Amino acid sequence: MRDRLEQLKGEAWKRIAEADETGELDRIRVRYLGKKGELTELLRSLGSLPQEQRPEIGRLVNELRSQLEGRLHSRLDTLQTEELQRDLARETIDISLPGRRPAVGRKHPLNQVLAEIEAVFMGMGFEVVEGPEVELDYYNFEALNVPPDHPARDMQDTFFITDDILLRSQTSPVQVRIMEKRQPPVRIIAPGKVYRVDLFDATHSPMFHQVEGLLVDEVTTFGDLKGILQVFVSALFGKGRGVRFRPSFFPFTEPSAEIDIECIMCSGRGCRVCSNTGWLEILGAGMVDPRVLSKVGYDPEVVQGFAFGMGVERIAMLKYGIDDIRLFFENDMRFLAQF
Ligand code: FA5
Ligand code: MG
Repeated sequence: MRDRLEQLKGEAWKRIAEADETGELDRIRVRYLGKKGELTELLRSLGSLPQEQRPEIGRLVNELRSQLEGRLHSRLDTLQTEELQRDLARETIDISLPGRRPAVGRKHPLNQVLAEIEAVFMGMGFEVVEGPEVELDYYNFEALNVPPDHPARDMQDTFFITDDILLRSQTSPVQVRIMEKRQPPVRIIAPGKVYRVDLFDATHSPMFHQVEGLLVDEVTTFGDLKGILQVFVSALFGKGRGVRFRPSFFPFTEPSAEIDIECIMCSGRGCRVCSNTGWLEILGAGMVDPRVLSKVGYDPEVVQGFAFGMGVERIAMLKYGIDDIRLFFENDMRFLAQF
């Protein structure tokens, strides 16, 4: 019986020492001290021993029992401490690591330029208005002095939806919609998207942005138009930038002009962007044709007006030295993140 106890003790000590997780200690406890545990069985079998051996062996078994409990307990302490140390080590925060920068959104460069253009004209008392992109032929052409089948329609190759409905090819229809609703004086700008059946190349896109401007009042002159556009170009490009007013034609203005500014890419020497002319067209303008005024019920003998329409992409390209309009629409973050 004593040998059996010694053997049990040896085994148990070894198991406890080798246990490397707290769950294992539970299994050891059950194995020896559980209801059917080896030590419990031994205690139960005491009855079969001779009377005189019972107290001695009983004492030994109980002693082993409490030693076993003690060992289990202290091993549990050790393992728990070790586990805690491991957890702490794993959860250490290395404050010397560089932080991760969250990606920050920003305005598209076209919207930035658009906001700048709006700010300049708002500073001169213009109100910002909008009109529909899906437009009636009447507003895009007829009310602007371009009857059906007139050759001037070829100036803007247009996406038609039906015979009367189209994607506006310019922001000029907003002029008519506003004049129909209001009486002079009128002083508005109308930014927005326009569409043309133009091939994508370095300076043309089938969808681009324009900002229309319209001022109608008593005594409005071409000199006022030149002055306002000069202020605009200076505000966006600085005072030194060369500007030229070139005679041109639009069906809804008379006289008409196109305004060019010195090519920023080549400073006027001539390059791919300016088709070797040294100049880049940024907008069309002119005095509103009296027939357009009459059509909306204004009296051209009493009021005159001027209007202009600019290409926002062209202006953004010049401002930032971008040599290909397609970059605005490819949405490559390496490009967009530079603004
Ligand atoms: C017009 O659209 C006239 N509505 C402008 C106008 C308004 C004249 C009011 C008189 C009075 P034009 O077709 O030239 O004009 O276009 C105006 C500007 O849009 C051009 O100067 C150019 O900067 C830009 N533009 C024209 N076509 C494209 C294109 N495919 N891609 C990018 N920009 C373009
Ligand atoms: Mg033009």
